Amino acid sequence: MTAAAPVRVAVVGLGWAGRSIWLPRLREHPRFAVAAAVDPDPAARATVAAAHPDLELLADVAELGPARFDLAVVAVPNHRHADIAERLLTAGIPVFLEKPVCLSSAEADRLAAAERAGDVTLLAGSAARYRADVSRLYEVATELGAIRHVDLAWIRARGIPDAGGWFTRREQSGGGALVDLGWHLLDTLTPLLGSVEFHQVVGTTSDDFVSDGAWAASWRHGEQAASPGGGGGDVEDTARGFLVTENGTSVSLRASWASHEARDLTAINVEGAAGTASLRCTFGFGPNRQDRSVLSLTRAGQTTAVPLPDEPIGTEYRRQLDELPAMLADPASRGRAIAEVRPTIAAIERLYDSARSHRPTPQLVRAGS
Ligand SMILES: NC(=O)c1ccc[n+]([C@@H]2O[C@H](COP(=O)([O-])OP(=O)(O)OC[C@H]3O[C@@H](n4cnc5c(N)ncnc54)[C@H](O)[C@@H]3O)[C@@H](O)[C@H]2O)c1
Repeated sequence: MTAAAPVRVAVVGLGWAGRSIWLPRLREHPRFAVAAAVDPDPAARATVAAAHPDLELLADVAELGPARFDLAVVAVPNHRHADIAERLLTAGIPVFLEKPVCLSSAEADRLAAAERAGDVTLLAGSAARYRADVSRLYEVATELGAIRHVDLAWIRARGIPDAGGWFTRREQSGGGALVDLGWHLLDTLTPLLGSVEFHQVVGTTSDDFVSDGAWAASWRHGEQAASPGGGGGDVEDTARGFLVTENGTSVSLRASWASHEARDLTAINVEGAAGTASLRCTFGFGPNRQDRSVLSLTRAGQTTAVPLPDEPIGTEYRRQLDELPAMLADPASRGRAIAEVRPTIAAIERLYDSARSHRPTPQLVRAGS
C-alpha cells in the first residue's frame, strides 16, 4: 500500500499564529507539504523567508490556484476571515479557518454559500477540543446522565493581546475577550451538548484593564514589544454571560483577558443528574499557567481524581492537524463547521446585544483616594 500523498498547503497570514502555531507544525508533519505562504506585509514575508528560505512567498491569495493547493490554512486578522475564506472557497480551495470563524451570523451565511459555490470544504480551528484533558472530560461527561449546567471560564491573570493593535479595535477584531477566549470556550460545548440553539442569552462586559499596557500579553511579541503605555481600544477585556439552551440546559460563561488572579485559569464544570465533572487547567500558550491540568468527578459527596496524561503546551494544534486530512477527504465534513459555528456566533451576538442594553456603572472613586 502506498502512503497517501501529502496535503499541499498554503499558509495565509504570517503573523503570530501563522508563524508560531501553524508553519512549524505543518512543516514537520509528514501528512502536509507547505507549498506557499501569503501575507501582504513585506516585513511578515521577510521574517518567514529568513526562517524558511525554500518557501514560496506571495502577497495575495489571488496568486493561489486550486490546481496547486489542497488546503489553505487561514490566520489573518478577524475582520478579514470571512472575505479571505470566501475568496478561497469560491476559487475551489478548501479552507481551514482560525477562530473566530466569523464575526456575525451574516458572515456565517456568506461562508456557507461560498462552501457550496466552490464545492469544497470549510474546516474550523477548534484546538481546545483536541486537548487530552478536554477529551477526557468529554469521556467522563458521558457518565453524568442528563447534563443540566456547564460552567465555562477562561480567566487570564494578564494577557491582553497586542494592546493597541487590531485585537483591541472592535472594527477589526469584532470584540474583545468574548470573541477571542469566549469563542474557544463556547466551541468546547458542541461535543458536550450537541449543536444547540440558545433560547436565552444575557451578559455583561467590562473594560477595566484594556487601556493599561501593564496587562498586555507579553508572550506574543516579547516583553519589550508589549505596548508599555497601553494602546487603549474599544473592546471589552471581560465578558460574563448566562445562556440557556432550548431544552433548558444552562451555561455560564466568563472570559477575561486580565484580572486580579495570580495565574491564568481555564475551568470547565459539567453538572449532570448523576454527578459533576470539573476540569481546571490553562488553555493556550500563556506562560503564567496552572501547574498541571486537574480533572475530578464528584458523586454523592465523594470526589475522585481522574488521571490525565501530561502533554506539552500546544499539543492540541498538532493533534488537530493529525485529523485534518481525513476530515478533508470525508464528504460528511462539508457544511459541518458552519453548522457548529452558528450557535457560537449567535450566542456572541446576543451576549453583546444584552451587554449594550445596560447602562455602564461608573467606577466609584472614594474621596481622598
Ligand atoms: N487558535 C488559537 O489558539 C489562536 C491563537 C492566536 C491567534 N489565533 C487567530 O489567528 C488569527 C491571526 O492572529 P495573529 O495573532 O496571528 O494576528 P497577527 O496580527 O499577528 O497576524 C495577522 C497576519 O495576517 C496578515 N494579513 C492581513 N491581511 C491579510 C491578507 N489579506 N492575506 C494574508 N495575510 C493577511 C497580517 O499582515 C499579519 O501578518 C486571528 O484570527 C486570531 O484569532 C488563534
